Amino acid sequence: MASLPRGKFATWQVCHYDEEAMYSTSVPVTASSFFDRRDELSRLQKLVRQLVSGTPTWLAIVGTRKIGKTSLLLELARRTTESSVVFVAIDCFEELPLVPGIFRRYALRLIDGALGSELGTSLEALASSPVDYRAALQRSARFNALPPALRGQVLELAQFEVGPELIRLALDLPEQLAQALDLHFLISWDEFQELATLPARGRLPDLIPLMRSRWQRHRRTSYVISGSARGMLTELVTDERSPFFQHFSLMELGPFPPADAVRLLTENAPPEWPVSRELATRANDIVGGHPFYLQLLGEALTRQPRRDGDSALKRALQELLFSATGRLALYFENQFQRLVGRSAYLAQTLESLAEGPQRVADVARALDSPSGSAVRYLERLSDAVIRTSDGRYRLADPVFGLWLAWRRPGGTILPMRVVGDEAELAVAQHLVQLGFDLVYQSRASRGAFDLLATRGPDQLGIQVKRSAPPLRFSVAAWHRMEAEAERFSWRWIIAAVTPPPENRLLLLDPAEARVKKQVRLAASAKIENLLSWIDHASHRDTIN
Ligand SMILES: Nc1ncnc2c1ncn2[C@@H]1O[C@H](COP(=O)(O)OP(=O)(O)OP(=O)(O)O)[C@@H](O)[C@H]1O
Ligand SMILES: [Mg+2]
Repeated sequence: MASLPRGKFATWQVCHYDEEAMYSTSVPVTASSFFDRRDELSRLQKLVRQLVSGTPTWLAIVGTRKIGKTSLLLELARRTTESSVVFVAIDCFEELPLVPGIFRRYALRLIDGALGSELGTSLEALASSPVDYRAALQRSARFNALPPALRGQVLELAQFEVGPELIRLALDLPEQLAQALDLHFLISWDEFQELATLPARGRLPDLIPLMRSRWQRHRRTSYVISGSARGMLTELVTDERSPFFQHFSLMELGPFPPADAVRLLTENAPPEWPVSRELATRANDIVGGHPFYLQLLGEALTRQPRRDGDSALKRALQELLFSATGRLALYFENQFQRLVGRSAYLAQTLESLAEGPQRVADVARALDSPSGSAVRYLERLSDAVIRTSDGRYRLADPVFGLWLAWRRPGGTILPMRVVGDEAELAVAQHLVQLGFDLVYQSRASRGAFDLLATRGPDQLGIQVKRSAPPLRFSVAAWHRMEAEAERFSWRWIIAAVTPPPENRLLLLDPAEARVKKQVRLAASAKIENLLSWIDHASHRDTIN
């Protein structure tokens, strides 16, 4: 027993024990980087206690991708002080496409977990070389203490042909190892629903009933299955016709409550880029408590120049979500492709839901199809779409909805709608009507302008003022705008929005400014027709 580290996990050889807080987006998180999930952890800790006392229970965790399933199990392992408990995790997405060989991988991982650090190597890694695999095993005192029949099976494992015999062996292995070595296994199968779709090829047994009948006999093993296909997984454990009916309790892993989301953002901020509670609250209002999105947004925020938090938030969101190459945008692009495949109808169905909750009739109208077809499309999108209590349909993930709405024609106004103020929104609305796309400036610029509008080859920097002309600027601020426009070859204008309730918009030509000790721009600088102003300006350039 002494050779087994506490809470051993047989997937991640290295666990991350972060000393310093910071945003983390590429690996599951534990210890001081781990937030929220108190109720979920205590439920899992109860499951560990039941396992150790000889009455194992099974749990199904339903949660979208990246909601923190792996982090939760890792944190449970880290907090488990009971040294007999071995954690083994396997994810059906590790083998794509999923093949029955996953059961060999599973078996090897169980042995790795059971023999622990005594092996000094990973059998899973050695399996492609049967000679080295056997040699490593034979050096292990714990292995040599196993009953002879079990020892023989384990020795042969690397060479076993994948078939019914290997699958049965793999399914019984944890219980046999646990009995022989006085251990307990907590086994998690992620994206478990995929196993139900593993094509029943040739001699392969029907997996789900087989698993149930083997697992039911296990006294030293608990099973936690999880997956992102909410519909399929829930059906697998709650449908009366399913072999797993009433065997699992269900845990829904959702977004963080606001207080924990705010804590994640403020406490993980680097000291040189503190994030205030107020800024964190605003950020969380937009990404809705999803821990992965929060971490990404935190990272993007602290990459912005440290001036005022509000403009950093606008730029961070633009960079992350509202741009073709943003990390969250790419993540959603991938999700979108996976959901819709080649079906233009599915794509249109999602896009119509991006406007907000819809009735079947609304979706049918958007698709120009009968409502029967609309219902079928909505059903095919079941993991991304939720039916509300009033019979309408909405997107399960509102942030995905923002991204979908942003990619629609004219959707570049969305960032201004989500994080902008009234004046910015008024400017953006006007320019979108003229056929411009809009962005908050990227971090490449020094940020002399609030917005950048593009239309074909034309690029227009815009400084937004919340007052009626005449406007006054310091000479330094004016020079900053001139220099930045020059550096990026942008044209530029000043947009004056008169205070509410009037909210009248005037676009002003900087060439009309009077520069003295101060710069003064009067209402007479008004540009009547922006498109022809731009055309004339380009024309002037070509002539000069
Ligand atoms: N409890 C948490 N505290 C802080 N951040 C978290 C937490 N849970 C998840 N995250 C963030 O979300 C990311 C994804 O977490 P994790 O890998 O655990 O999710 P998952 O549901 O297992 O994802 P996948 O669908 O890829 O298997 C982490 O890298 C981290 O940024
Ligand atoms: Mg995971």
